[in-house]
Amino acid sequence: MIITAPTVALAVRRLLTAAGQAPSVLNTQPWRFRVRDEVVELLADWDRWLPVSDPRGRSLHVSCGAALYNLRIAARASGRRPVVRLLPDAPEASEVLARVDLSACEPATAEARRLYGMIPRRRTNRAPFDARLVPPGVLADLRTAAAVERARLLLPNRRGADDLLDYAAIAEEQLAADRAYLDELASWSLPGYVEGPRAIGEIDPVRDFGHRIGEARFEPRPQLAVLTTAGDEPLDWLRAGQALERVLLVATAHGVSASFLNQPLDLRDMRRHADPRHRRGHPQMIIRLGYGPSVPRAPRRPVSEILA
Ligand SMILES: Cc1cc2nc3c(=O)[nH]c(=O)nc-3n(C[C@H](O)[C@H](O)[C@H](O)COP(=O)(O)O)c2cc1C
Repeated sequence: MIITAPTVALAVRRLLTAAGQAPSVLNTQPWRFRVRDEVVELLADWDRWLPVSDPRGRSLHVSCGAALYNLRIAARASGRRPVVRLLPDAPEASEVLARVDLSACEPATAEARRLYGMIPRRRTNRAPFDARLVPPGVLADLRTAAAVERARLLLPNRRGADDLLDYAAIAEEQLAADRAYLDELASWSLPGYVEGPRAIGEIDPVRDFGHRIGEARFEPRPQLAVLTTAGDEPLDWLRAGQALERVLLVATAHGVSASFLNQPLDLRDMRRHADPRHRRGHPQMIIRLGYGPSVPRAPRRPVSEILA
């Protein structure tokens, strides 16, 4: 009877399918996985790195951290207790970003099953959001989700949000004049059907990747949030990615959509601007939250392609 081998393969496939659904910068999916017995290694796929807009590899690590969170939650939902070591090897051997030992068992919690169920429903939503405000209780849940993963979710006040929108617009203008950036963007372009419409009027809280379809008016006062970490090194970026995905899955469970405005952060990385340690940490993601229509999924690579 050939039962065990295919069953094990199926269990791993479930984990990797979940990991591969994570958000990633420009949908580059810059990850690979090496499976040995009950250990899964998360590897950076440097062939899918964006050297122009992500010279430090920060966004690559954040993306891989998000994939790691999905792997962890899929393992928890299937009755495993993943033991994770981030950057387990010497810094020179930076290919292995995390080693996950799945040999320990622990009954799945309702919370793990609920968040696991949100993985296929989460998506970046670049459509206009409706007028409903995200309730304080939901925002508090999102802040907790970030804190559990050792990051912070800051919620700027109205003035802070207006400033962020201005920074995003200025950064976008500067990026639009950068030939190397535009070339890189063109080689990883997102499909137009996930890019949402162009904005009518002044308020444009969605990053323009160059293929927006149609026009619409966006919500006048977007609810923004900034995910920060204490440090600004690969370990912090992996934590930011895990925190990001946890925040997004909790948001999805509350029916809240998200998109991102990371232009100012990309520009900071590209210009190698020093980012003096702010009292409240280093910004890793600028997030817009709200209630949007359902939107199509961005494509993913099959599991066979992400297995090392
Ligand atoms: C580190 C990182 C940075 C991102 N930056 C942006 C951004 O600035 N603007 C945006 O609209 N989406 C951004 N995204 C979202 C990705 O484009 C998105 O996750 C990817 O296209 C896959 O689509 P999905 O999230 O719907 O699954 C970012 C995602 C990550 C992980």
